[in-house]
Amino acid sequence: VLKDNTVITVAGASGDLAKKKTFPALFGLYNNGFLPEGIRIVGYARTKMDEEDYHKRVSQYIKTPIPAMKQKLEEFLKICTYVSGQYDQDDGFEALEKELKKCEESYKDKEAPKNRVFYMALPPSVFTVVAANFKKHNYSEGGINRIIVEKPFGKDLESSREMQVGLKKEWKEEEIFRIDHYLGKEMVKNLLVLRFANVMLDASFNKNLISNVQITFKEPFGTEGRGGYFDEFGIIRDVMQNHLLQVLSILTMERPVSFSAEDIRDEKVKVLRYIPEIKPEDVLLGQYVAKDDKPGYLDDETVPKGSICPTFAACVVHINSPRWEGVPFILKAGKALNEQKAEVRIQYKDVTQGIFKEITRNELVIRVQPNEAVYLKMNSKAPGLAMRTVPTEMDLTYKRRFSDLKIPEAYEALILDAFKGDHSNFVRDDELDIAWKIFTPLLHWIDNEKPKPAPYPYGSRNAEGFDEFLKTKVGYQRSEAPYTWPSTSVL
Ligand code: BG6
Repeated sequence: VLKDNTVITVAGASGDLAKKKTFPALFGLYNNGFLPEGIRIVGYARTKMDEEDYHKRVSQYIKTPIPAMKQKLEEFLKICTYVSGQYDQDDGFEALEKELKKCEESYKDKEAPKNRVFYMALPPSVFTVVAANFKKHNYSEGGINRIIVEKPFGKDLESSREMQVGLKKEWKEEEIFRIDHYLGKEMVKNLLVLRFANVMLDASFNKNLISNVQITFKEPFGTEGRGGYFDEFGIIRDVMQNHLLQVLSILTMERPVSFSAEDIRDEKVKVLRYIPEIKPEDVLLGQYVAKDDKPGYLDDETVPKGSICPTFAACVVHINSPRWEGVPFILKAGKALNEQKAEVRIQYKDVTQGIFKEITRNELVIRVQPNEAVYLKMNSKAPGLAMRTVPTEMDLTYKRRFSDLKIPEAYEALILDAFKGDHSNFVRDDELDIAWKIFTPLLHWIDNEKPKPAPYPYGSRNAEGFDEFLKTKVGYQRSEAPYTWPSTSVL
């Protein structure tokens, strides 16, 4: 655990990720007293600016709803300093080194080892060179050094490997923390407990009882100004190959020997190795088009004309392990859809008919966001004199059950883990490699064959053809009697 003698450097401090995620998370931790005492935060980026401008930028996305937080923010800004410099030139990193040394002079214990954390909120083009420069100019001899990095980790297996080789030339695996922020989400962290601490769930998680699983990510907004980045990557690289695959691996892995990072990650890697590469025929691609006053993807000025980049994708994934063979897993991700939602929907097989006719299937729904919840759709006798079944639910809605608890932001949880040196919720090198192996042939097929994505109007429920796709791929049919989860209206 890093103690009082730590400086964190945020590279790319004036960029979007730092402003929207890194600094608000650092402030959240600081505000709650979770950062090491005496911590200093040094921003590094190319933009020249004075301290006042820099502090303005840092506080831009930090919310301070109560006066005590405003005061805390003032204190927080006092530990935030800034150095501007190029990413590929020595003098910038030399200036940074001077600033780091200055920060370290303020430590109470002058003899204590000097720990340094480097947070890379940077575009991939400068990633390797900055990691190398940090090592060359700013590595602390005798202290603990850690580097936190973030996707995109390349665009396919080959470029990812190149990046990893570049990074590993300078940094040891134990010093590297690869963020996938879905691993910091409360409900994703709960998956291991839900599965392995509940006998009946654990016992039912297999091909004998489960018909299919859907892992869904939906956003109600499009690329809006971020089209330049997005168009180069597309929805599969942006969300599916990382966030959704991470959820899938934790959901389906075998029970780890312990909660230690390596035991967990060994099991994740093992289950991923059972997944064959995804075939083009198992994929549905879509791209949103304008509807009413909402612009289409191609109307975004940052998007190249005529782009065929998918903003929606659904893929059928198979896990050829004894536990899961034959169970289709549908990963679905889309922008500019009808709602914001990330959830796992596990649909059980039909109950033996006979005494029941057209009875709905059990479904276990794990709602990652918004409004964390776990509910199990169950059939019950409708109360009354008649013998009639009715779909009901067992419902664990966090807001009701844990009403006085604040759920930490994913980035807060992960930055704290990195400070503690806990790798459990970070991506290991071999895990990343396998994730790319599963998706790379499909991505190359898309890049080369340029299939035209199905257009869908902004705000749609799914891309056109999804229900049909689901039916043919998994034999899934939406139940005849529509079921509405009652908590929807409470929240
Ligand atoms: C990011 C993607 O990794 O995750 C974005 O690049 C996406 O496109 C975001 O919007 C979603 O994260 P969250 O935490 O808002 O679900």
